[in-house]
Parts: sequence; structure tokens; C-alpha cells
Amino acid sequence: MEFGYCAVFLILLLPISCGASTSLEKKFKKCLLTQLNGNSESIENITFTSSSSLYPQVWDSSAQNLRFVNSSRKPFIILTPLHESEIQAAILCSKQLGLQIRVRSGGHDCEGLSYLSLRKAPFVMVDLINIRSIEINLDDETAWVQAGATLGELYYKISNASEVHGFPAGPVPGIGIGGHISGGGQGMMMRKHGLAADHVVDAYLIDVNGTVHDRKSMGEDVFWAIRGGSATSFGVILAWKIRLVRVPAIVTVSERPLEEGATNLIHRWQYIAHELHEDLFIRVIAQNSGDKSKTFKATFGSIFLGETDRFITLMNESFPELELNVNYCTEISWIQSVLVDAGYDRDDPPEVLLDRTNEFKSYFKVKSDFVKKPIPKSGLEGAWKMLLEEEMFAWLIMEPYGGRMNEISESEIPFPHRKGNLYSIEYVVKWEQNSKETSKKYLQWAKRVYRYMTPYVSKSPRAAFFNFKDLDLGKNKHHNTSYSKASVWGNKYFKGNFRRLAQIKTKFDPQNFFRNEQSIPLLHTHPS
Ligand SMILES: Cc1cc2nc3c(=O)[nH]c(=O)nc-3n(C[C@H](O)[C@H](O)[C@H](O)COP(=O)(O)OP(=O)(O)OC[C@H]3O[C@@H](n4cnc5c(N)ncnc54)[C@H](O)[C@@H]3O)c2cc1C
Ligand SMILES: *[C@@H]1O[C@H](CO)[C@@H](O)[C@H](O)[C@H]1NC(C)=O
Ligand SMILES: *[C@@H]1O[C@H](CO)[C@@H](O)[C@H](O)[C@H]1NC(C)=O
Ligand SMILES: *[C@@H]1O[C@H](CO)[C@@H](O)[C@H](O)[C@H]1NC(C)=O
Ligand SMILES: *[C@@H]1O[C@H](CO)[C@@H](O)[C@H](O)[C@H]1NC(C)=O
Ligand SMILES: *[C@@H]1O[C@H](CO)[C@@H](O)[C@H](O)[C@H]1NC(C)=O
Ligand SMILES: *[C@@H]1O[C@H](CO)[C@@H](O)[C@H](O)[C@H]1NC(C)=O
Repeated sequence: MEFGYCAVFLILLLPISCGASTSLEKKFKKCLLTQLNGNSESIENITFTSSSSLYPQVWDSSAQNLRFVNSSRKPFIILTPLHESEIQAAILCSKQLGLQIRVRSGGHDCEGLSYLSLRKAPFVMVDLINIRSIEINLDDETAWVQAGATLGELYYKISNASEVHGFPAGPVPGIGIGGHISGGGQGMMMRKHGLAADHVVDAYLIDVNGTVHDRKSMGEDVFWAIRGGSATSFGVILAWKIRLVRVPAIVTVSERPLEEGATNLIHRWQYIAHELHEDLFIRVIAQNSGDKSKTFKATFGSIFLGETDRFITLMNESFPELELNVNYCTEISWIQSVLVDAGYDRDDPPEVLLDRTNEFKSYFKVKSDFVKKPIPKSGLEGAWKMLLEEEMFAWLIMEPYGGRMNEISESEIPFPHRKGNLYSIEYVVKWEQNSKETSKKYLQWAKRVYRYMTPYVSKSPRAAFFNFKDLDLGKNKHHNTSYSKASVWGNKYFKGNFRRLAQIKTKFDPQNFFRNEQSIPLLHTHPS
């Protein structure tokens, strides 16, 4: 019995209905106890059932999207393992009791799939908050990063060990390394270095039998699949081994707000940004001010992996229209650029990156697109107009591709969006108070702007970025949707790689134990 319903039955004075849930909790804990050969105190310490007073706090801790805060589809039990054996036990006990499992690293899933299930069935949630150590090895320029570590913790640890190393991943410090790399991971250095997932050299993965694999024992197929192809469809990532990249001691960041002539410059940007020197990343953020004034704002934000002189010379050669002069530029260290991108001041102590509480938490919806030919000015202007339709925070984030992204083949890892893309767009809408009506209004806005953009973006398939998970694209009904139905969204995220992902899935997890609303399906449908 799902605990949301339990509450209702309690009110109806039918506590008997809740007995099912309680006995499930008991059964599950008993199974853990047997598996772990442990004492009940150590199990009590890492489990939170719906009746536990800490349950709401633990569930809520890293859940970013408040859209689901009152959902009745929450886990009946949460585990916060301290050791891999407890994750293994959670997998085996879930399997034994016919339960589903969800794993959470940083909680930034755009549809909340790490802490919710849309299906009316009890499930177990494993939160990796305590599995987060990071070991930097400068001798071979790699690091072992446990899945529950955040990007902020990784960046901090790297910078504390070296001034000339960094890692190319997203700019939001609270994002978990577990989920981020499982979906690719793009950030401000992708034109120079590619994605986070392009830098994985080994991994520890726990499979459906509770066995811990490294790259060698999981095999090259599975190792391919987990780097951007939804690792959660294959098992639980314990840790990634990543290759660090070299960064210069000084980088140049600049921010250039635009008022007049924004459309002309952004239109021009589309022809230039993907062809610039790969040390240079200039993105566009177009947004609604988010207040009553409903004003349009656009900003060019850039990072250049070098000093200002060279930056200015390059800009003067390739994009003089932007008139980026020294006044817009700041020379700082790479870790300071991370702080700036995260919305901190460059002089803030880098320890702020370790803060897991200062986060994006709000109600939001994200969609994504890829652009292969420049959008005409009229098309851009129509999008700006839509940004201003409602009194809300809404962004169009346009991130240039090209450079290193062009050099990696579409099938190197499951993330297929490489050569031929000028830039990606993320549509983000965010609101701060929830009611059914506001929620509906903004979700509809997201659909409207997505529909409006149809003629301007990639086609057949209209590609999307898996890290910006979007259940509007389709979902696994009962989690056992047929391969052909799942291909509708699967081809958008993974293009020609989707079939191979399903083949590997079918071999590695033939019972479809690891599944969710958008997990990789089996080639042949299996009853759930
Ligand atoms: C504000 C915001 C900004 C973002 N910016 C970017 C960006 O710039 N670039 C980018 O690429 N992405 C970006 N994302 C998307 C983000 O990278 C993905 O949502 C990513 O999956 C989050 O990882 P997580 O561990 O924090 O999330 P979680 O919610 O913990 O997990 C996400 C998914 O991965 C699975 N998972 C988590 N941990 C594991 C594990 N250890 N083993 C197996 N499966 C696991 C979960 O079950 C879930 O399906 C952003 C998201 C938000 C909310
Ligand atoms: C359980 O947690 C308590 C309080 O944090 C601690 O004192 C105790 O040692 C823990 N017990 C085990 C077996 O881990
Ligand atoms: C969740 O429910 C509580 C209690 O009914 C309510 O006060 C709160 O506003 C709701 N939150 C959301 C986000 O709907
Ligand atoms: C940062 O580096 C210093 C010196 O190497 C070390 O003593 C310290 O423990 C490190 N801090 C963290 C949080 O890793
Ligand atoms: C920009 O280029 C023009 C012409 O190539 C040159 O005259 C000018 O000095 C350059 N400006 C800077 C700041 O480099
Ligand atoms: C899990 O165990 C079963 C039964 O022993 C075996 O057939 C299967 O190959 C194992 N799965 C993996 C992923 O090793
Ligand atoms: C999918 O799962 C549902 C619910 O468990 C079940 O009723 C249905 O028969 C399954 N469908 C297929 C095609 O296996």
C-alpha cells in the first residue's frame, strides 16, 4: 500500500489498510538485516520509513524540483547507505520483494525521477549522500569520484590540489556526479574538451545481482552505455574514474548585457559562436526579468581559456560586432570562473562550492532543443515575445557547440549530438509558489514555446538532451512500454545509439529490474 493513500485511510479510521505498508517496511528491514548480517541499530541508522520523523527532511534534502513536493508517489523507505554492501543489500531485497528501486545522487533530475515514481507501487529510494569521497591523483591526472559527490565538491577538490587542472562539466555546483555523467554533462569548457562523460576512464557499477563491476568486468558494451546512456537503466554507479583536464592559471570571463540591438547580435552570434577558437565559449541567455515589469533581458556570457589580451584580439578578429572590450573582461583563476558561473562573487572563498543547501530549489520545467541552422530574426523575436507572456522567470539558454564536440563521433558514447549542431537551447521556466493553476499555466507555456520553435530546430528526430529529461516527450507506461513506443523519446535523446542501448540493456538486465518512466527498454517487452 502506497503511503500517500495510507494517510487517507488513516483519516477514514481504517488503519488496517496501513498494516500492509508497515509490514512491507518490516519485511524489507528484516531482509536487509539478513543480507548484511548486521545489527538492527546500524540498519535503523540508515533507513527512514514514512513514519520516521526525519523522513520528510531526508526526502526533501536534495530534491530540486518542488513541483513534486506533495506527490503521493514517494518511496515507502529511504536508505542512506554508508557502505556499498548496503546498496547491494537494497538491490537484492528489492528484487526479492518485487519492489522497484530509485537511486539519487544530487537530486537535480528535471522530472524528479530519482525520488519519485509515477507508478502506484511502493518503491525503495537509495540516497547516496554519504557516498561522496573524491580522490585526486595528479600523477596520472585522474580522479576517483564517488557518485554522491557534487560537481561543486569535485571542482573544489581539484582546485585545492592543483592550479592548472579542472574538469569539463556543468556550472551548477549542487548537481550530483552520479546523474550528471550518466546523461552526458555539458558545461562551459565543452568546446575545448567535450562532455564530462567523454572523460570517464573507469567506473564501479553494481548490477542487478548486487555484483560490483569495474570497467573490465562489466565489459566495453556496458561501459559504453553508462557514459551518457542512462546509467540508471543498467545498475547503480558507485564511482566514476575521470580524466582531469589542464586549465591555464588565468582565464578571462566576460559578461555583456544587451539592450538595444539584442536580436541583431544574437542572430549574428548563431553564425559565429560554433566556429570560434575552441578556447572561447560564448553563450546567450535571453530571459524575462521575472517580475511585474516583464522586461526582456539578454546577456552574452563567456569564458576564454587564456588572458584578456589574446581574448580581445580573437574577438576583434571574429566577432567585432559584439564590441567586447576590456571593460567587460575579468582575469581570474579557473576556480574563480566556476564561482562566477555559479552566481557567487569571484572573491568568495571556494568553500562555498561545498554548500549543498544554496541551490536552485523551486518549481520548474525544462525542455531542450538543438539548432542546426541559424534562426531568422523574426523567429528569434517571436521567441522573445513568448518569454514575456507571463509574469514568471523564464530563460532561453543557448550554448554553442563546435570545437571538440565536432571531433567526437556520434557513437563514441551514447550522447549523439555532435557535429552539425550550432548550439543547444534549454527552455527553463521557474516559479516560486505553487498552486494547480500556476503550475498548469507555466507547464503549458513550456509546451507552447516548444511548439513555436518547431520550424527552427532539428528534425527527424527533433533531438533532445537526456540530461534535461522531459516526460512530455513520452514515458514508459507501467515502465514496460515496448521498444518501438519508447523509441519516440529514445531516438530524440540517443538517435542511432538507442537500439544499441536496448540491446545492451536486454543482455545485462533482462528482467528490466532497473527501470523508470524513461529508462532504456528491453528490445522485447517483458511484463513488469
Ligand atoms: C538547475 C539545473 C541546471 C542544470 N544544468 C545542467 C548543465 O549545465 N549541463 C548538463 O549537462 N546538465 C544540467 N542539468 C541536468 C543535470 O545534469 C541532470 O539532471 C543530472 O541527471 C542530475 O544529476 P543528479 O545526480 O544531481 O540527479 P539525480 O536526481 O540524483 O539523478 C538523476 C538521474 O540519474 C539517476 N542516478 C543518480 N545517481 C545515480 C547512480 N549513482 N547510479 C545510477 N543512476 C543514478 C537517477 O536515478 C535519475 O534517474 C541541470 C539540472 C538542473 C536542475
Ligand atoms: C547509530 O547512530 C548513532 C547516532 O548517530 C550512533 O551513536 C551509533 O553508533 C550508530 N550505530 C551504528 C551501529 O552504526
Ligand atoms: C503541499 O501541501 C501542504 C499541505 O496541504 C500545503 O500547505 C502546501 O502549500 C502544498 N505545497 C505545494 C507545493 O503544493
Ligand atoms: C586542501 O589542501 C591542503 C593542502 O594540500 C590540505 O591540507 C587540505 O586538507 C585540503 N582541503 C580539503 C578540504 O581537501
Ligand atoms: C581590431 O582590428 C582592427 C582592424 O583589423 C584594428 O585596427 C584594431 O586596432 C583592432 N583592435 C584591437 C583592440 O585589437
Ligand atoms: C545475474 O545472475 C544470473 C543468475 O545467476 C545470471 O544469469 C546473470 O547473468 C547475472 N547478471 C549479470 C548482469 O551478471
Ligand atoms: C505491463 O505492466 C502492466 C502492469 O504491471 C501489466 O498489466 C501489463 O500486462 C504489462 N504489459 C506488457 C506488454 O508486458
